[in-house]
Amino acid sequence: MYNLTNPFSFELPTKIEYGNGSLKKLGDELRRLQAKKVSVVTDEGIIKAGLLDKIIPIIEENYMEYSIFYGVEPNPKDLNVEKGAGIVMDFGADTIIALGGGSPIDCAKSIGVLAGHGGSRIKDYEGRGKVQKPNIPLIAIPTTSGTGSEVTFSSVINDTVNNYKMTVKSPLIAPKVAIVDPELTVTMPPAVTASTGLDALTHAIEAFTVNISEPISDALALLAVELINNHLVEAVNNGSNIEARAGMLMGSLLAGMAFSHSDVGSVHCMAETLGGIYDAPHGVCNSILLPYVMEYNKDYCKEKYAKIAKVMGIKFSTADEGADRAIDKIKELSKEVNLPSFSILKVKEADLEMMAEVSFKNGSTPSNPRPMTKEDYLVVFRKAHK
Ligand SMILES: [Fe+2]
Repeated sequence: MYNLTNPFSFELPTKIEYGNGSLKKLGDELRRLQAKKVSVVTDEGIIKAGLLDKIIPIIEENYMEYSIFYGVEPNPKDLNVEKGAGIVMDFGADTIIALGGGSPIDCAKSIGVLAGHGGSRIKDYEGRGKVQKPNIPLIAIPTTSGTGSEVTFSSVINDTVNNYKMTVKSPLIAPKVAIVDPELTVTMPPAVTASTGLDALTHAIEAFTVNISEPISDALALLAVELINNHLVEAVNNGSNIEARAGMLMGSLLAGMAFSHSDVGSVHCMAETLGGIYDAPHGVCNSILLPYVMEYNKDYCKEKYAKIAKVMGIKFSTADEGADRAIDKIKELSKEVNLPSFSILKVKEADLEMMAEVSFKNGSTPSNPRPMTKEDYLVVFRKAHK
């Protein structure tokens, strides 16, 4: 547990407009940012779902010019960023709107980095501290309840040369505005609701338990766990239930703020490795790995796992029992929303060592509550692979 006299800083550069119908605020926010030329970054699924049609009239009503880049793939790639940045720079955009799940928002952040610096390779900005200039102002409009990317300082991009997920991290890449409207999430299919929901739950649990957590991120993370636990199953089974959708969207928003100020841990280090190599959905990778890593970490953060059990409404008598019950509950939740097990990824035994090494090199490894070596990662991967 942290010492309340320890110093830390907490910065939230993003203005949040939250609630049903908050999309209507887009025009006000564009004018406030003095936008004249707006680039929209999105993907084909969003266009097919009719969501782009909800924002174009708002841009047109405000007499702004716009361009659309919809070439963002799931697990967005360096190539998507570099192509999108070329389009945004040629158009001369002064504002970017990211519309979609974590992929378009993360891609738009990195596009903003290249456009802001006049750069051409996103690899040059990997890690912390490489981004030196503010991005082109970004308005993020999430349509899933998972990454919390609308309020985070991270952009996770697949390095297609070295085949792993790299992270560009800086408060300078945080969106200027997040328009967080639960009504935009009702068309999300059950499988996406489930996997993105487990991503958000993983953010909350890791933010709460990593060794650099602090009181504000803890408060955000615990309410996120409570909301996601209360609303996930209903949001998956009955997508038109707007209260469940709102609970999930608020849960993912809080979890995003929590991990951006704290960190994620070894679940993400391993999930990003899996996602980078097998191109599997990020939330699916997290949901598969979360219980294994929690079991491995348990002795290093038992009391915190017991607090997680408490906000999930679980009764227990000792911290040890509470921690076990929290892990069981997370396994149950994944099953209830039909998330698959490790075997679905068809991971080759021969790849496990390399995967352990890539996970170990992930920038969040030092934050995990249990110190992790390459050998530790191999133990967890082997357990999951059985
Ligand atoms: Fe994540």
